Amino acid sequence: MEKFVINGGKPLTGEVSISGAKNAAVAILPATILAADKCVIENLPAISDVTVSLQILSALGARVRMLNKNTYEIDTTHVCCTEVPDDLSRQMRASYYFLGALLGRFGSAQVAMPGGCNLGPRPIDQHLKAFCALGARDSVEYGMINVSGEELAGAHVFFDTVSVGATMNAMLSAVLAGGQTVLENVAKEPHIVDLANFLNMMGADVRGAGTDVIKVRGREALHGCTYSIIPDQIEAGSYMVAAAITGGNVLIKNVIPKHLEPITAKLELAGATVEEYDDAVRVYRTGDLAATKIKTMPHPGFPTDMQPLMTVLLSVAQGTSIITEGIWENRFRYVDELVRMGANIQVDGQVAVIEGVQELQPAPLRASDLRAGAALVMAALAARGTSEIDEVSHIERGYESLVEKLQGLGADIRREEKASAVLPQAL
Ligand code: EPZ
Repeated sequence: MEKFVINGGKPLTGEVSISGAKNAAVAILPATILAADKCVIENLPAISDVTVSLQILSALGARVRMLNKNTYEIDTTHVCCTEVPDDLSRQMRASYYFLGALLGRFGSAQVAMPGGCNLGPRPIDQHLKAFCALGARDSVEYGMINVSGEELAGAHVFFDTVSVGATMNAMLSAVLAGGQTVLENVAKEPHIVDLANFLNMMGADVRGAGTDVIKVRGREALHGCTYSIIPDQIEAGSYMVAAAITGGNVLIKNVIPKHLEPITAKLELAGATVEEYDDAVRVYRTGDLAATKIKTMPHPGFPTDMQPLMTVLLSVAQGTSIITEGIWENRFRYVDELVRMGANIQVDGQVAVIEGVQELQPAPLRASDLRAGAALVMAALAARGTSEIDEVSHIERGYESLVEKLQGLGADIRREEKASAVLPQAL
């Protein structure tokens, strides 16, 4: 068990470079199965969700070779197994992308009901709807999802809800299906476009990614390629919040400023200054933070994954802020931890009303999920004094070298082994 020890209250200054996007990487790695060939994937973030994805590929029979910390060669020629090991698929939500990729190449896939952050109910009915429209059958037995369908055929799918995962999985299963697939009411996140670009580099014909309608013309076969993953929008947004909440001045490099616009707009309303460059943004704040209203929505709306980070920021803004969570039913669980730090936040269902306080107090804290954990790091960086955050493995699922990057900005943060509790000897 590891913990972060943070001595907060210092403005962050300097430069930080953003890693590859987690939510693109966890779809692109399974997608390499569709090539039945060698792919070189660059700019992979060194995070535990990527490690688990690579372990699953190896377990399925792929040859995985590290070329450097962020570049892997993956040869999926000899993949033959279609069952993802239960212990690995439970470790991350995104293991469901192996369903689409294995179904697309082999006409069959078995994956355990996925794990990941607990944000309320996380159904996969829309993923299964797309697979079934293409001609597959699905069943759940002993906690395993089975999908099978030897001759997948292109189809028209209208999604009932906008889903990142279902959009990606539908693309994965359609690129080798016969004929044309039309996907309507799809998600438009930057990682959707990144997966489509990767599939097209492998020879697929995917058009319209980034709009509401994606059209896929099935190909006979795909081939290997070299591909570099886009920068992580949420990691970048997290450092933007770190600069704003500490009253610092940080140049955030290797970003696509267009992807950050929904975050930039809200940070500016909250009193930060954001300067945009070609592939960097500078964030600084000299005046007070101001209250604002936010509602999370599918892209290009304000991203739900930034919601906990903005709650932390607005907890020290002057006035009353309102945050409405529009994607997940239960994404305010971390608020109890902020209240322990002196924040004044009332949650009613999917709405949080935040009365800004002068400052947060240090406290012992527990990360309940990935983004909530990152938000607590930002809160601890702002609070004068020493905070300790437990269960940081949640955070390390999605942030490469968080401690080192924050240290590079002048933060007083270290990672420590947590002493395990010693049970008293029986008398
Ligand atoms: C992805 O989850 C991300 N995860 C999440 O990020 C992110 O919060 C979410 O998209 C929304 O942007 C990955 O990419 C691995 P959805 P996903 O399907 O695909 C409902 C992080 O912190 N829904 O877009 O699982 C669902 O209940 C993680 O990096 C259905 O009803 O999300 C939710 O209300 C946390 N049926 C909404 O749609 C379905 O079949 C959006 O979910 C699928 C989803």
